[in-house]
Amino acid sequence: MSLTITPFDAPLGAEITGIDLRQDLDDDNFAKIESAWHNYGVVVIRDQNLSKAEQIAFANRLGPVSKRGLPAEKRKEDDDHGGTIMMITNKRNPDGEFVGSVPEGELWFHSDLSYRLVPDQATMLHALALPDSGGNTMFANMYKAYENIPEALKKKLSGRKVLHAYDFATTAQVNIDEGLDNIQHFWQPIFVRHPITGRTALFASRLMSAQIEGLDRADSDSILQELFDIIEDPAIIYEHVWCLGDLVFCDNRCCTHARREFPMDQLRMLQRCTIQGAPMIPAA
Ligand SMILES: [Fe+2]
Repeated sequence: MSLTITPFDAPLGAEITGIDLRQDLDDDNFAKIESAWHNYGVVVIRDQNLSKAEQIAFANRLGPVSKRGLPAEKRKEDDDHGGTIMMITNKRNPDGEFVGSVPEGELWFHSDLSYRLVPDQATMLHALALPDSGGNTMFANMYKAYENIPEALKKKLSGRKVLHAYDFATTAQVNIDEGLDNIQHFWQPIFVRHPITGRTALFASRLMSAQIEGLDRADSDSILQELFDIIEDPAIIYEHVWCLGDLVFCDNRCCTHARREFPMDQLRMLQRCTIQGAPMIPAA
């Protein structure tokens, strides 16, 4: 078997087969995977069986694995590998308590740690248990989102920042009228330049983007709704239907992601880590 990269018939994403990341990851294969990540935004590597340590070892080739945004005292995982592994699961312990994170339901579009100066440049998910249906992960191509913004609005937003804030809800934005003293938040450039491809992307999301700099509140709210609708246009989305063993990672500098709901009486478990990025670069 040799490594094969097949782009999806979708606005982003590619599938890789013919590699066991525990054994076959020489420099040549790694370079092909890294290049697919830059070219297609989302990479799906099929048929893996990685422990936490093995997933982290692979992720570290792409960049330093980062620590989770949720404070340590609020994490539920028994072993989160020094704050680097999140188990996204609805599994419960014998007392009926969830043993992982974001256990149930829909999760709105977002980009991990966008509410920090240094967001995660990549998010990596490994499917260990799946329901019969539901729980698909959607990825939006944020280069295309930028391209689809009407020219007059692009001009109006050019050079502005957008407030990203997050309180760890899954389908609700932070209410910024209640103050941000205890909420993680950061003003990000609304249009960013990807450090590798040089392309311009929109950097906003329904879950985390709360206000646009320099606009009155009503104008900001209405423009954000328009941007969210552009991001969530099915024409720029790849929807991943999970298979056991999939290892999926996305480039958060040009993609946002979201989850569909799924039946709560069936086990779902994704092993997740993220890769540290750098401060976002404003588009010229
Ligand atoms: Fe996420």
